[in-house]
Amino acid sequence: MMPSDAFILGLPKAEIHLHIEGSLEPEQMFAFGRRNRIALPFATVEDVRAAYAFSNLQDFLDIYYQGAGVLMTEQDFHDLAMAYFRRVAPDGCRHVELFFDPQTHTDRGLPFRVAADGLLSGMAEAERTLGITSSLILCFLRHLDEDAAFATLRAAEPWLNRIAGVGLDSSEVGHPPSKFSRVFAAAGERGLKRVAHAGEEGPPAYVWEALDQLHVDRIDHGNRALEDSALVARLVATGMTLTVCPLSNLKLCVVDDLAAHPLKRMLDLGLKVTLNSDDPAYFGGYLGRNWTQTARALALSREDLVTLAKNSFAGSFLPATDVARHVAAIDAYASRGSPT
Ligand code: ADE
Ligand code: ZN
Repeated sequence: MMPSDAFILGLPKAEIHLHIEGSLEPEQMFAFGRRNRIALPFATVEDVRAAYAFSNLQDFLDIYYQGAGVLMTEQDFHDLAMAYFRRVAPDGCRHVELFFDPQTHTDRGLPFRVAADGLLSGMAEAERTLGITSSLILCFLRHLDEDAAFATLRAAEPWLNRIAGVGLDSSEVGHPPSKFSRVFAAAGERGLKRVAHAGEEGPPAYVWEALDQLHVDRIDHGNRALEDSALVARLVATGMTLTVCPLSNLKLCVVDDLAAHPLKRMLDLGLKVTLNSDDPAYFGGYLGRNWTQTARALALSREDLVTLAKNSFAGSFLPATDVARHVAAIDAYASRGSPT
């Protein structure tokens, strides 16, 4: 029997691939735009949604960076984060590791602290009021150069004790991980975790580079690793977590159809797969919808879903005692027997 949506949503889970700027809903774009007196190139919320027809990553990024331009104050970032946490609380979400793109904001003239302090205060409120824990990952924009990434790491220095790690995002093809090997080494020396988008649109060689030159703790996406069996063997042997985002892959034409998504194949190969939303306001669904739609399209079993839920905590940067507590909660939930 197919696990019900109620069972899927009730499973305790973590989201470890979420760009907070990608949770900006069109309604919020207008609200923040009004609040900050920033004109939008759209007349209505419907016009904004109609523009979300992407044929690749770059199509999306162009509109995503434009949307982020309405975020001006700490309060905006606080509100953005809280709105996201409220949306994933009913999805069984217990922990989030959220990406933010400081350069998108500092390049518009905002001091580093505006996004960082606003998000951290929203995260603290979510923990207090919703019981959802979270940590922050600072992403470098890979279409910019490594010097700009170093400048961002320097600007982040006073916040580094409240930042879990660094990531690498934006336009993948033409911007290989090797471009950032020195700044990732510097981040590692500061005790930061390291993750990188690789193999979303880029070739398997970019996944190898992320592993061997950036020394990443997780691979974001990683879909194209499947084209290289030696790479799959390496990822399986090292228990490397992949943060897979099915509705994102569908919207950005990485796959043509959710039923053709490789997530089940990845699980069956023994890869440590997790299921995430990426940019939920742009891709048609938050964490819960990613889980329910993917489960249905790929006929995932109860065991598959329990594995995905456990992987989401095991692949997180939570301390081992917290991971063990969440895994025990998953086992207790799954053994209760209902809802199916
Ligand atoms: N920035 C926000 N979402 C992204 C994605 N899916 N890939 C690369 N960069 C991103
Ligand atoms: Zn992403």
